[in-house]
Formats: sequence, structure tokens, C-alpha cells
Amino acid sequence: MDDRAEPKRAAGESAAREIADGMVVGLGTGSTAAAAIRYLGKRVDAGLDIEGIPTSYQSRALAHEVGIPLTGLAEATPDIAIDGADQVANGNLLKGGGAAHAREKVVDAAADRFLVVVDITKRAERLDRPVPVEVLPDARPTVAAAVERLGGEPRLRQATRKDGPVVTDNGNLVLDCAFGAVDAPAALAAALDGVPGVVAHGLFVDLADEIHVGTDDGVDVRTA
Ligand code: A5P
Repeated sequence: MDDRAEPKRAAGESAAREIADGMVVGLGTGSTAAAAIRYLGKRVDAGLDIEGIPTSYQSRALAHEVGIPLTGLAEATPDIAIDGADQVANGNLLKGGGAAHAREKVVDAAADRFLVVVDITKRAERLDRPVPVEVLPDARPTVAAAVERLGGEPRLRQATRKDGPVVTDNGNLVLDCAFGAVDAPAALAAALDGVPGVVAHGLFVDLADEIHVGTDDGVDVRTA
């Protein structure tokens, strides 16, 4: 049992309450976004008329299971996206703990409003966890060298219950790149964006609009 399940549920449901009839909703990935998706499923059962755009195999399967009609970016633009994060500092995010950050970034950035849902353990003074970088498989050595030139230590993410590396929903690999505390997230994000072979990194800078933080005493909602 996840001892943070209750704050995660509260945060996810808090954001899901902001969804109204007629909206197209970006559906994030991870356990906190899953709480939002489950709650939206209940609201759809009760008559809420929405369509979801999933960000991963996981969120597609869950949305399907709970009865949320789905669409895609070719058909619609999300009014709101709800997504989790691995760390939040000064309104910026570190994502990609579930290796879904490439599609998450596309959907979250396309949304008119992006609501982040986390439990309080994700709040930090500075982003200091390793930055997940999804790379084209052939580019792994060249991207790893570029990350080292930027001062990072890249480590190929290994799968559990499968031999070898994690392969993303997009067929790519993930380098978890330790930079220590990131003092200038926008500059590091721009540098990583400029490396050939990088599909997407987990720094989400200036993308969030609102952060719903689940605590033991309720949900703290802040504008990012
Ligand atoms: C998926 O790759 C991630 O970006 C998730 O959104 C992030 O890891 C948060 O997941 P939890 O809500 O399960 O902590």
C-alpha cells in the first residue's frame, strides 16, 4: 500500500473537480494523475460530457477502463491537462519517473491550462533529482557525451522484470542525468533541447498554471 495514496487521491480529485462539460482534457501519467482519471470516470458515469487525450499507454488503458471517451491531438486541442510530477520547485517541474514525459510534454504544453497534481513530498526548494532524457536508441552514446559536456552524469535506465533497458511507449531509451541541484532550469532545458537525438527531457519550465498539492490536511492549490 502506498502511504501517500490519500494525499495523491485528494490532489487528483481536486484538479478533476475543475473539469466542466464540453472540455477536452489531457490525461497525465502516474499514480496521482491516475487518481484524477478515476474520479473523472465517476463524473462521466454521472453525466459529465468530456473527451480525454491520453499521454501514455497507462493513461489510455485506465481512461478506457473507467469509461472516458478518448480523442487525439489531430482532432482536438486540450482545454486543460492534469498531470503529476516527480519534483516541483518555483513552479517548474521534473517529470519522467514513468518514462512518459515526451507525450506528457506535448499534451501539457498544448493545453490552455495545465494543472499539476502532487503530494507534498514532491515539493522542493530546487530541482535536484536526475533529469530523465528520452533519446533515440542510436543516439544514446552521442547524447550521453553531450550530457557529460553539460556537467551531467547520464545513466541508462534499466527495466525491472525485463532484462535490459526501459523502452518507452515511443520505442526509445531513457538516460537519467544527474546534474545535482539545477540552478537555472530554463538554461539547462534549452541546452538539452538543442542536443541532436534528444526526444524530450523531463524539465517542464514555465508550463504549469496551477499546482494542487495533497497534504495530510487537505489540498493546497497554488498558481504557478
Ligand atoms: C511519468 O513519466 C511521470 O512524469 C509522472 O507524471 C510522474 O512520475 C509522477 O508520478 P506519480 O504521480 O506516480 O508520482
